[in-house]
Amino acid sequence: MVKDMSKIVVAYDGSELSKKALERAIYLAKRDEKLELNVITAIPRLIPAVYNYGVTAVTEHEAKLKNAKEIMLEVEETLNVIPNKTETYILDGNPAQAIEEFAENNNVDLIVMGSRGLGGIKELFLGSVSHHVVQKAKCEVFIVK
Ligand SMILES: Nc1ncnc2c1ncn2[C@@H]1O[C@H](COP(=O)(O)OP(=O)(O)OP(=O)(O)O)[C@@H](O)[C@H]1O
Ligand SMILES: [Mg+2]
Repeated sequence: MVKDMSKIVVAYDGSELSKKALERAIYLAKRDEKLELNVITAIPRLIPAVYNYGVTAVTEHEAKLKNAKEIMLEVEETLNVIPNKTETYILDGNPAQAIEEFAENNNVDLIVMGSRGLGGIKELFLGSVSHHVVQKAKCEVFIVK
């Protein structure tokens, strides 16, 4: 599966399934030291039309950013177990679109992600982010369930 691939990206939101996706990607990366592994997490941009209470919106955004940084520090520790080149990124913007665009602009061969994430409603098999990415990404997508 990893033959001829050079870059794998894990879409990470801190959910159990995204942790599983990270473990799967590490497993794949161990097959080939030349594979680069990137882990990305996206936090939505401030939307002025929705947030009329400026201070609250900024505080909320800062809290999300702080949380994302902490999550990515943990991810970096996990990534230390493999010799492959690895990077982590915190992306600004709508998660589904940010993941799609990251893959498009960074020569990504495979996106690994969970079927569901942190969202509460479990009736559908795919969450909105994985649904969007499976449909729109030009590269292959590996859904962990
Ligand atoms: N903000 C994000 N940044 C990076 N990856 C994400 C983000 N949100 C979700 N993902 C990825 O998408 C997978 C599926 O999550 P998704 O958000 O689609 O489901 P959900 O949270 O259950 O549903 P919804 O968000 O539609 O309520 C996650 O396991 C993770 O791999
Ligand atoms: Mg979600």
